[in-house]
Amino acid sequence: MNRPAQIRTMPRRVLDIGCGDAQKIKRWALQKPGWQFEGNHVPDVHIARIPTDLPSNVHVKEADTFDYTKDKPDEHYSMVTSDMHIGWYKGREKDPRVYAERVTSEAHRLLAPGGQFKVITLDGAGDVTRRIMEKAGFRDVTQRQIMGKEIWKTEWTLRYSMPRPSLVQVTGIKPK
Ligand SMILES: C[S@@+](CC[C@H](N)C(=O)[O-])C[C@H]1O[C@@H](n2cnc3c(N)ncnc32)[C@H](O)[C@@H]1O
Repeated sequence: MNRPAQIRTMPRRVLDIGCGDAQKIKRWALQKPGWQFEGNHVPDVHIARIPTDLPSNVHVKEADTFDYTKDKPDEHYSMVTSDMHIGWYKGREKDPRVYAERVTSEAHRLLAPGGQFKVITLDGAGDVTRRIMEKAGFRDVTQRQIMGKEIWKTEWTLRYSMPRPSLVQVTGIKPK
């Protein structure tokens, strides 16, 4: 896959919003020891607590999304991801659509030019996710159904990817 030149050259700092059991960033961090990974989540009855064996380049905090991001500078990350989180958000913002718009705008603020925002959601929510990303200023927004074998093996992604692929990944790029 072709990535924007800026992403290839910038120090890679990744935020996973609503990271759950952090299995995705843990596995990714082991493959990319030079990158820095952060994740935030809130205690959730369905999700294991923060693993005790995280690699040193992974930092996970129990914090509401906006409490976590509010002090982060603009253009701080080269990638922001959020898997199975936006429709599952439990917090101060009660309207899921408004939360989706707010978190997408926050991802746009936090990303360096050329950075990517990647969302995994149920396939029925793909179109609205794409429109919200475009409205927030992301470009080259693509949407594709993802197969079970491509999905990080977390409790939630496995639950929704089996027995048939029912998840989509929507990706947008912050323009340079
Ligand atoms: C369905 S789980 C998905 C977890 C993980 N991303 C995955 O793919 O397995 C939803 C996640 O959203 C997080 N979450 C819900 N409300 C939140 C909030 N107000 N702030 C931060 N994270 C929140 C939960 O803690 C949980 O980790």
